[in-house]
Amino acid sequence: MANIAVFGAGYAGLVTGVCFSELGHNVAIRDVVPEKIHRLRSGKAPIFEPGLEDLMERNDERLTYTLDLAEALEGADFFFVCVGTPPTYSGDADLSAVWSVIDELARAGKETHGTLVMKSTVPVGTGEKVRAALDARGLTHVGYVSCPEFLAEGTAVRDFLNPDRIVIGAWESADADAVESLHRGLDAEVVKTDVYSAEMVKLAANAYLGTRISFINEIANVCELVGADVEQVARGMGLDRRIGTHYLRAGIGFGGSCFPKDISFLKLLAGNSGYHFQLLNAVIEVNELQKRRVVSKLQKHLGSLRGKRVALLGLAFKANTDDMREAPSKVLASRLLAEGAEVRVWDPVAHPGDLQPAVTVVDGALEALEDADAAVIVTEWAELRELDWAQARDVMRTPLLIDGRNLLEPEEVRSVGFVYEGIGRVANAFEGLPEAEEPKLA
Ligand code: UDX
Repeated sequence: MANIAVFGAGYAGLVTGVCFSELGHNVAIRDVVPEKIHRLRSGKAPIFEPGLEDLMERNDERLTYTLDLAEALEGADFFFVCVGTPPTYSGDADLSAVWSVIDELARAGKETHGTLVMKSTVPVGTGEKVRAALDARGLTHVGYVSCPEFLAEGTAVRDFLNPDRIVIGAWESADADAVESLHRGLDAEVVKTDVYSAEMVKLAANAYLGTRISFINEIANVCELVGADVEQVARGMGLDRRIGTHYLRAGIGFGGSCFPKDISFLKLLAGNSGYHFQLLNAVIEVNELQKRRVVSKLQKHLGSLRGKRVALLGLAFKANTDDMREAPSKVLASRLLAEGAEVRVWDPVAHPGDLQPAVTVVDGALEALEDADAAVIVTEWAELRELDWAQARDVMRTPLLIDGRNLLEPEEVRSVGFVYEGIGRVANAFEGLPEAEEPKLA
């Protein structure tokens, strides 16, 4: 059993800290935002993450939430850096929060002992800079380990407690062994390597997953032109053990706080190191175009979108999270407004946040569909599978559905009178919107 101090109560820090307490360690989670700490002390998580609050409750006696540095460091053997590293305007990583932790450790005094563990996603080479910063501040006896996280939002607790692998990068094997021992109880292969490679594993893993998504999205776009069904294609591809079925779901592009950022980190890192990473350029460009393809699908059926009412069903960048960071819904809403459409949006948990004010936010999916000329499934919420689509057709002005996540069964939706179009799914060539009613002659 160890004493762990976690810096940063965001997704990575909270899930990491709480899950380590589940493994029996004493964990102090330190953040600089008072509201977060107050909420945590009341047993509530400041993020929407299934299973997290249950674990917080079960391990309450081993968990401390604090704003106070001294309280966090008291008796700590490990200092987990889980602070945000958002992109700067240049796309480089903003490491200011990382440097603050280093400065605080230095202020805590030269007798500070322990191992600093980098969990935040950082460009390759950051470990070297942190090592130099620790040494420069007289903290030569503080060890350094890179231990990237691979937690996906919505399944983060499960991902931590059932990891595919644990990656540990260190200069000193004693530091690596110490961090490995923290994970005792988890059944996973441990990849012990050097710091640079550990940092690269994280970026490369996310970039590769993004590449798979952009690839299957392009396959989907070709499927539409040649009459194939991407869902069948992905299945046929994915059963090849060299390919695998994961991350082959075509849709309206990837979003979130990780993929877009980490892919641009890696692209820039390569560029700053003298290498032109062409593939990642394409991955990013395909993804941006994919978010916008829904607009041309709507125009194909509706013509000009000026004055048309479009309902966006789902705002979060994916289901089971309230996170809107880099969400395709934002780009889509803005594109539709730019085309003169009226946009109504609904999401079960995500708050519209920085969506344009011209967007109307409503509390229910059916409410969003009222008098709509088209509906777009933007997030694969389970509620949309259970929605009464016959009732939805009745409240809409025009029964047109663009399924941006291939969430529904096309024939089921068509059977209740919808014109249905998915992503990379065979469109029904004879399918057309019902003729507008001839005005009754007086
Ligand atoms: C990701 C990584 O999965 C995780 O390992 C890392 O630590 C953080 O980044 P997350 O951003 O939570 O996690 O989301 P993820 O579930 O990976 O999805 C990322 C985006 O890709 C979402 O917008 C999702 O809708 C999209 N996606 C995912 C697809 O479009 N198709 C797929 O097949 C899978």
